[in-house]
Parts: sequence; structure tokens; C-alpha cells
Amino acid sequence: MNLQNTETQKNLMRALAGESLARNRYTFAAGQAERDGLPVIAAVFRYTADQEKEHAEIFADFLRRGGAENIPLEGGFPVDTAADTLSLLAAAAKNEAKEHGEIYPAFAAAARNEGFAEVARKLELIAEIENCHAGRFQAFHRLLSERKLFVSDLACGWICINCGHEFEGTEAPRNCPVCGEAGYFIRVEMSPFSYLNQ
Ligand SMILES: [Fe+2]
Ligand SMILES: [Fe+2]
Repeated sequence: MNLQNTETQKNLMRALAGESLARNRYTFAAGQAERDGLPVIAAVFRYTADQEKEHAEIFADFLRRGGAENIPLEGGFPVDTAADTLSLLAAAAKNEAKEHGEIYPAFAAAARNEGFAEVARKLELIAEIENCHAGRFQAFHRLLSERKLFVSDLACGWICINCGHEFEGTEAPRNCPVCGEAGYFIRVEMSPFSYLNQ
């Protein structure tokens, strides 16, 4: 695969830069969530940051295979100006939605135009993941803004992602009765390794 002097090569570098920055923005946001007493939201940001690292690696691999050494770049990259967890979740959802709906579809179309079907397909698959990221950030933004992160209208299962304690109820206590740590409860159905409904 020769990517030299193609728009696809530039777009892959933009995508690599965008994913790398997103990974760091989410890592910084995780730190803010910790400072805001919301380690469960910090875990959401870190979980997503790890996935952005994988996306970055996929784009870096294409660039390596395409013969890139040094790529001058122009592009627009978001800066998180927000300084609280709720606003950071909103910004993250917005940026993910833009990646899904605008940026990656445009990159995929350009790649397909230039005859790089494999790159186009991968961009489309990653765009779908960014849609899931947008949905996840939106969901946590809504729960936090409606003060329902630790409260549910209907009884549901809760898990402390620090020690693993699970119980059923309409409200998670601020501090886990087992490990004593605060802010680690999440609805079991929203935890990444739930084995319910199997
Ligand atoms: Fe990504
Ligand atoms: Fe993402």
C-alpha cells in the first residue's frame, strides 16, 4: 500500500492525532472526575481513553505500511475548556458525535475515492465505535445532570466497581458498605463486564 502524496495519508495522520489527543483529553477528564468525587465517571473516561489508543494504533499501522516518515499537517483539534465533570462529558459527547457523523465519513469517502478500500472500511467501523462513545458519554451526562447517577426510579442492580459488591435497590449509598469508598457504584447493566441477561 503506497500512501505517499495522498489525501488519505494526511487524513490518517489527522485521525492519529485526533485519537491521540482524545486519549489524553479523556485521561485529563478522568483526573477531574476523581477530583469531583466521581471515580465511576473517571473509569468511564479511562475505559474510553484506552479504546482511543487502539484506534490510534490502527491508524499508525496504516501510516507505517503506507510508507510515511514525516507528515506536515493542518487540522482542527478540540480543546477541553471545561473544568467540571458534567461539562467534560458534554464536550466529549459532542466531539465523538462529530467524529462519527462528519470527520470519519469524510475521511472514508476520500479513502474510497483514492482506492484505499481497506482504510475506508476501517474508518467506517471506527466511526461506528465513536457513535457508541457519544452515546455512552451522553448517557452519563444525562444521569449526572438529572442527579440520577446513583438513583434509579425502579429498583435495579448496582455494583461497586472498586470492590465488586452488588445489591438491588433504587439508590446506591455514597460509600460502599464493603470497601467504604465513595462514588464507585454503577448500574450493573451499565458496567462493562456484566454477565446478566445471559
Ligand atoms: Fe477513537
Ligand atoms: Fe471515541
